[in-house]
Amino acid sequence: RRRRSKREAEAERRSRAGAVIEEVEQRFSTPTALLRGIADAMVEEMERGLRADPHAPLKMLISYVDNLPTGDEQGLFYALDLGGTNFRVIRVQLGGREKRVVTQQYEEVAIPPHLMVGTSMELFDFIAAELESFVKTEGEDFHLPEGRQRELGFTFSFPVHQTSISSGTLIKWTKGFCINGTVGEDVVAELSRAMERQGLDMKVTALVNDTVGTLAGGRYVDNDVAAAVILGTGTNAAYVEDANAIPKWTGILPRSGNMVINMEWGNFKSERLPRSEYDSALDFESLNPGEQIYEKMISGMYLGEIVRRILLKLAHDASLFGDVVPPKLEQRFILRTPDMSAMHHDTSHDLKHLGAKLKDILGVADTSLEARYITLHVCDIVAERGARLAAAGIYGILKKLGRDKVPSDGSKQRTVVALDGGLYEHYKKFRTCLEATLADLLGDEAASSVVVKLANDGSGIGAALLAASHSQYASVE
Ligand code: GLC
Repeated sequence: RRRRSKREAEAERRSRAGAVIEEVEQRFSTPTALLRGIADAMVEEMERGLRADPHAPLKMLISYVDNLPTGDEQGLFYALDLGGTNFRVIRVQLGGREKRVVTQQYEEVAIPPHLMVGTSMELFDFIAAELESFVKTEGEDFHLPEGRQRELGFTFSFPVHQTSISSGTLIKWTKGFCINGTVGEDVVAELSRAMERQGLDMKVTALVNDTVGTLAGGRYVDNDVAAAVILGTGTNAAYVEDANAIPKWTGILPRSGNMVINMEWGNFKSERLPRSEYDSALDFESLNPGEQIYEKMISGMYLGEIVRRILLKLAHDASLFGDVVPPKLEQRFILRTPDMSAMHHDTSHDLKHLGAKLKDILGVADTSLEARYITLHVCDIVAERGARLAAAGIYGILKKLGRDKVPSDGSKQRTVVALDGGLYEHYKKFRTCLEATLADLLGDEAASSVVVKLANDGSGIGAALLAASHSQYASVE
C-alpha cells in the first residue's frame, strides 16, 4: 500500500475536524422558531409548577414576599449573600423616602472550595465568623437605635421550601455545592445556631433567593421591575405573580394581591431543548445528574466546561492541538467561563490572546492559527446557544405576564427585567446576543416597552430592604 503523503493526512485531519464542527453546529443551533417553542414550554411548565404537579420540573417556589420595597425603609440592616463562587456580607443604612441608601459597605470573600463539599456546620461556621468580623468594623456612619438587635436579610441562592418569610428548608443543593445533612433542614436555624456559636447577636428577618433579592433591589430603584433573572454561576428567575393565579397557595390572599415566585428555572427541561452528547456527558458526570438541565446549558459554571468537552473531542478525533491530546484538556472544569470569555473576545488578527490562554490553561505551546480559529468558533457556538436559550426563558416569563405584546387599547406599559450575575455582567458577547435575541422574539413594537437592566449587586441590597420591611420592630413604628 502506498504511504499517505503528508498532504493527504492533513486533508483528512481537516475533514474530520470539519465533520465534528458541523455536527456541533447542528446540535447547538437555536432557530427562532425553536426558541418560541421553548418559551411556550416554559409557560406550560410555569403553570404546572404553580399547580404543584408533583412531576413539574419547575418548583415555582412561594417566596412569602408579597410586598416589594417602597422606598420608605429605614434603619441599619445587614445582608449576607451565599450561593455563587463568592460570599458577601453587606451593611446598609437606609434613610427612608428622601435619603434612600445613605451609606453602604460590603466585603466579599471567595468560598474555600473544600467548604462547598464539606459539612453543614463547617460552612455555616465559616459564614458566621466572616459576618462577625464584618460587624465589628461597623463605624459611625451606621446607627442602631438603643436596645435594638441587629437584623439580617439572608440571600441563600438555592431552592428552598419557604415556611415563612424568615424560615425555609433546603430542597437540594445546586451548582458546585454538595453538603451532606443540610437538605431538609431549616437554613435560617442553621445560620442562627452558627451565629450563636460565634457570640453574634443578630436576627434573620428575611430569607430570600438571589432572584427575589434582585427583584426587590430592582424595584427599589425602578417601579416597573416585574421580573429578575440571574445569569451567574447558576441561572434562575423570579417574578411578581398574581396571587389568584397560584392554585397551590393555600394561605390567605395577600393584601397586595401579589406574590413573588422563585421559579428555579435552572431545573427546566423540555424535549425541545437542543441537547448534545456533550451536555449528556457533562450532566452524567456532574454532582447532580438529571437535575438543572437548563442551567447546565446556560450558566457560568458550565459554559467553559462544554467548550472543553468539544475541544477534547476535536483533539481526539482531529488532532486539533497536534498528535497528542494535551493531558490538561482531559481535566474537568479546567476551562472556566471567564477564560472562555477572554478567548471569545480576542480581536487580534492572529488570535494571540486566545493562543496565550490555551497555552496557560491547557499547556499547548504553539497552536496553529487554524486551531485558534476553531476554538474561537466553538466559544461562539456555546455562548450563543446559552444566551439564546436564556432569552427564550425571559420571553416565556413576559408571555406569562402578558407583557410580550403592546396592550390592545394602545396604552403604554413599561416592563423592566432586572438582570444580575457575573455571566451577564462580564461576558459581553453573551449579553449582546441575549438582548438581541429577546428583541427579535418580542418584535419591534413590544421590544420598545421592555427594558433589560443590569441590577448590579441588587440581591444584597434587596435582601437588606426585605429584612427592613420584615423587621421585628416594623409594627411598632
Ligand atoms: C441555582 C440555584 C438558584 C439560584 C441560581 C442563581 O440555579 O438553584 O436558587 O437562584 O442558581 O444563583
